[in-house]
Amino acid sequence: MKIIHILFLFTFISFTVCHASVNDFCVADLKAPISNSGYPCKPVASVTSDDFVFHGLVAGSTNNSFKLGVTYASVSNFPALNGLGITAMRVDIEEGGLAPMHTHPGATELIIMVQGELTAGFVTPTSTYSKALKPGDLFVVPPGMMHYVLNTGKGKVTAYVAFSSEKPSIQTLDLLLFGNNLPSDLVAKTTFLDLDQVKKLKAKFKGSG
Ligand SMILES: *[C@@H]1O[C@H](CO)[C@@H](O)[C@H](O)[C@H]1NC(C)=O
Repeated sequence: MKIIHILFLFTFISFTVCHASVNDFCVADLKAPISNSGYPCKPVASVTSDDFVFHGLVAGSTNNSFKLGVTYASVSNFPALNGLGITAMRVDIEEGGLAPMHTHPGATELIIMVQGELTAGFVTPTSTYSKALKPGDLFVVPPGMMHYVLNTGKGKVTAYVAFSSEKPSIQTLDLLLFGNNLPSDLVAKTTFLDLDQVKKLKAKFKGSG
């Protein structure tokens, strides 16, 4: 390596380090008002080791129509994640259960399989990508892709999930289409579904109209 390259590398590294040391972290002060640029930082003097630990990524209740239990650690309950662009989630799915078609705009999702068999997939305008996953497998869902997971094995599924956002949003297709108060005939026309089917799904997803 030429000396000029080495010098350049050192300049680059020291710039990066200096830049980071201005603000090593910003543990969110959840009690302060949130602005467009996020939560203000808790004063560094009052930050402790406990701030960097989250307890309770345990199995969530699966007593719902999807047989799906979800537990999150995001900036709202784990303030140290503020500004770090990452979230953790635990998913438990009983036999035959699922997470219906949904997207996370702006967040990549990484599924880490721990127990059972989970079929995960996403669709694009031109293709579908789907796979049955076993413990030790990872599956990545690129940002914004419409995707699903389904317990296709015997017994329970447990998986952990990481999102590349400290507060990923969730848009569930059926909730958007049938959890709203638009007139059912309008929904039927604009989705090309039968009116009876729309009414049935509006009842299931607590829509009105
Ligand atoms: C599951 O939920 C239903 C309705 O919310 C409730 O009546 C029932 O007791 C729950 N079962 C268990 C095992 O928690």
